[in-house]
Amino acid sequence: LASIDVDLAPVAEGQAITVTWRGKPVFVRHRTAKEIDEAKKVNLGELRDPAADDARVKKPEWLIVIGICTHLGCVPLGQKPTDPRGDYDGWFCPCHGSHYDTAGRIRKGPAPANLVVPQYAFTSDTAIRLG
Ligand code: FES
Repeated sequence: LASIDVDLAPVAEGQAITVTWRGKPVFVRHRTAKEIDEAKKVNLGELRDPAADDARVKKPEWLIVIGICTHLGCVPLGQKPTDPRGDYDGWFCPCHGSHYDTAGRIRKGPAPANLVVPQYAFTSDTAIRLG
């Protein structure tokens, strides 16, 4: 399927779900106010792949990224409550130790680029269409 609809309503603040789109895992995280604040306050000059948080989300509460490490393609940890989330509270790739922040930006480790934001649109307050 080229496009899929994802219902966000069941995903409470602080929770995350993973959906499969075009054969790839897509991470959907309902960010907390703290996570949004952390993402916004970063000095872009410190970033390896500089991108403002605003440019990576359509609504601050919802971060949607392709769940594939930009180093060599492992699936980073951080979706389950018991997962490690790395030093920046986002995701941790256990393959070679890349740390991503709460905007999915690479902050530490060998990955060269941020987690990719897929093409999507909100179709209601609580639903998105990927693709
Ligand atoms: Fe993620 Fe190498 S594949 S750090």
